[in-house]
Amino acid sequence: MLSVRAPATSANLGSGFDVFGVALGTPADVIRVERAPETEITVTGAGSQYIPEDPDQNTVGAVADALDAPAHIEIDKGVRPSSGLGSSAASAAGAAVALNALYDRGLSREELVPVAAEGEALVSGVAHADNVAPSLLGGFTIVTDDGVTQVDASIPVVVCLPEITVSTRDARGIVPETASMTDVVETVGNAATLTVGMARDDPELVGRGMGSEIVTPERAALIDGFDAVSEAALEAGATGVTVSGAGPGVLAVCHADDRQAVAGTMIDAFDDAGIESRAYQTAVS
Ligand code: HSE
Repeated sequence: MLSVRAPATSANLGSGFDVFGVALGTPADVIRVERAPETEITVTGAGSQYIPEDPDQNTVGAVADALDAPAHIEIDKGVRPSSGLGSSAASAAGAAVALNALYDRGLSREELVPVAAEGEALVSGVAHADNVAPSLLGGFTIVTDDGVTQVDASIPVVVCLPEITVSTRDARGIVPETASMTDVVETVGNAATLTVGMARDDPELVGRGMGSEIVTPERAALIDGFDAVSEAALEAGATGVTVSGAGPGVLAVCHADDRQAVAGTMIDAFDDAGIESRAYQTAVS
């Protein structure tokens, strides 16, 4: 069987709602494929009981359709669904790479971005590419209507994942339709700062550039304990904290030496709010 590892991702980074995304070193999905007359999907691993194996309802089935590449597809989930870590995107991206190779379709990683995004439409209702792009291309990605810009980046991060779920569809439903000029100006400044930070591998600039009053406050309100977790991470040395994607994962940027302390304090703060969590000490890569 042909096997592909597809990394988790974190979208938005606060100031780049529906635009920014990063690939994370861990966790990851593993997708295995072999040619078959019709697509059949099996799902194992983290949260697999919540993922439909019917190809018409699974993100990976949409990818197989788009590539006209029927296959037996095994999805071994390392990225839990409804985590804010691009779970469906990792499966879609991994399947796109694997099926493209299996059937010699010859598409580049960039050309696979819209293919994998078709799978995302099934899950969230919108074919946004801010998770599939970094899962396919690595590093830091900027997705706009005109295409994807990718920057290799290496930034230490901690992602703390509480044992609660937030559906992307629900989290998109609470996004405000308008923003004040003050918030737009602040967010543009931060997004620019963050982008330079990624290009320079500078955790201080990236952390400083994550702030935004657009979307993040509404999303944070869906995560019990978010404010305390954020404050604790900043006290332990994080340079910035925000909601990972649609949540409930919480992303903290820090220096490599501070990762362990940041992870520990985030887990403790969730614990104080009565919520179990686990932390990935990883990096944008
Ligand atoms: N940009 C999307 C959102 C990503 O925040 O809704 C979902 O993971």
